[in-house]
Amino acid sequence: MKLNIALLPGDGIGPEIIEQAKKVVLATALKFDHSIAFSEGLIGATAIDRTGSPLPDETLDLCKSSDAVLFGAIGDPKFDNDPKAKVRPEQGLLAMRKELGLYANVRPVKTFSSLIDKSPLKREIVEGADILMVRELTGGIYFGKPQGRSEDGKTAYDSCVYSSFEVERVVRLACDYAMTRRRKVTVVDKANVLATSRLWREKALEISSGFNEIKMDFMFVDNAAMQLIQNPGRFDVIVTENMFGDILSDEASVITGSLGLLPSASIGTLTSVFEPIHGSYPQAAGKNIANPLGTILSAAMMFEYAFRLDKEAETIRKAVEESVREGFVTEDLDRKNPRSTSQVGDWISDRIAR
Ligand code: IPM
Ligand code: MN
Repeated sequence: MKLNIALLPGDGIGPEIIEQAKKVVLATALKFDHSIAFSEGLIGATAIDRTGSPLPDETLDLCKSSDAVLFGAIGDPKFDNDPKAKVRPEQGLLAMRKELGLYANVRPVKTFSSLIDKSPLKREIVEGADILMVRELTGGIYFGKPQGRSEDGKTAYDSCVYSSFEVERVVRLACDYAMTRRRKVTVVDKANVLATSRLWREKALEISSGFNEIKMDFMFVDNAAMQLIQNPGRFDVIVTENMFGDILSDEASVITGSLGLLPSASIGTLTSVFEPIHGSYPQAAGKNIANPLGTILSAAMMFEYAFRLDKEAETIRKAVEESVREGFVTEDLDRKNPRSTSQVGDWISDRIAR
């Protein structure tokens, strides 16, 4: 296959980790006889510094004309401490989600048995947890209108808005994934308070009636926050609206103890974006110490979800698992004998080539 991949390294450690994913993608392509064309685009603080915009038009066009997008991270502390900044790196991310129609963020949350002692939870609670978080990504309170400030500046408002269509397509996607897993979908909402949540329940039930084998249940978000800590093994697929998903997917990602290893896919109507779930980790930028595995596993998700090349994805995952098992990992996973970002990238691509 001929694959056009857009690379958006972004800020902080983004460029270093994308570099490793690039090596791994090339090694995989060589092994399975695909031809790859990479093109790079600017996004985030880096893009603001060079062009004034957090998502320049050229980047958007590049993404739209690519088969998939591999994304590093965005964010820079110089903007975080300035609430009055007119343009912010995060605007680039939100604009990309909207413009590419990235309506679902999918995060597999799995434990690696050799890393379980890094989990903040007891081994017996977290062992075997295997959750697929599906977060609606282009609706809800993140994008609802009206949003703003009253004229006298004394009141501010955000609106949570969902259409049936937006709920249906993301719930359907969650059910499709569940069919390839344990066939259980938990819809997380706040239907005891919010009108949008009641629409979610209604539409989710309708969608589930089209999937005979799926068991669907409903859970209030506050309870879900507790259950994720107390009994993460009870979940298979979780589907929820944008803001609840933002919060719960971060919670879910730390319980495994392997934050640096977790990938994600943002499924789009035009193209899909693959990125690690961690941030731009500015303190580590340029030091060749950041863990590239989340990005490399995002590349595996890209092969599987965007190109339907399962064997290629499996090959990458196996090589990553091996590096973890053999302890060939960065300092976040091994303080005593750490390898550098590029050493880990080289090791994994060599392993794939062999
Ligand atoms: C994420 C991030 C973003 C979000 C921010 C940076 C706008 O936290 O991807 O989860 O809230 O969606
Ligand atoms: Mn978040």
